[in-house]
Amino acid sequence: MAETTIYDFVGGEDFFRKFTARFYDRVKLDNELKSLYPEEDLKPAEDRLCLFLMQYWGGPDTYSQERGHPRLRMRHNPYPINHNMREKWLACALPALEELAPAEPAYTMMKEYFEQAALGMVNTHAE
Ligand code: HEM
Repeated sequence: MAETTIYDFVGGEDFFRKFTARFYDRVKLDNELKSLYPEEDLKPAEDRLCLFLMQYWGGPDTYSQERGHPRLRMRHNPYPINHNMREKWLACALPALEELAPAEPAYTMMKEYFEQAALGMVNTHAE
C-alpha cells in the first residue's frame, strides 16, 4: 500500500457518513441500547461518532477542534456499559462495516479496532 491514510483508502468522509448512518439505524432498533442515549434525537451523537472516526483513521481533526481531546472512556462514564451492552454496540457496528465492506487491510483493522475499543468502554459488571 502506498503512503496513504486508512481515511483516504476507504474513500474519505463519505465512507464514515455511510458507516455511522447504518450504525445508528441499528441502534434505533435496540431499545436497551438506545435508552442509554441522553437525547431522543440521535443525529448529534451520529455526527460526533463520525467526526471522531474520521479523525482516528487519519482524516481532518474536526472532532478535536469541536470537542477537545477524545478521552472516550471518560466520556462514556455516565453511561452504564456492561459486557452485554458492548455486545449490542458491536452488533450494530460490525454488520454496518460488513455491508460497506472496505477492502483489506482496512476491513480487518477497523473490525479489530472496534472490538478492542468497545472492550475499553466497559465500565460496569452490573446487569
Ligand atoms: C461499548 C459500547 C458503547 C456504548 C454502549 C456507547 C454509548 C455511547 C453513548 C450513550 C454516548 C453519548 C451519546 C452522545 O454523544 O450524545 C456515546 C458517545 C460517544 N461514543 Fe460511544 N458507546 C460505546 C462504544 C464506543 C466506541 C467503541 C467508540 C469509538 C470507536 C465510541 C465513540 C463515541 C463517541 C466519539 C462519542 C461522542 C463523545 C463526545 O464527543 O461527547 N463509543 N457512546
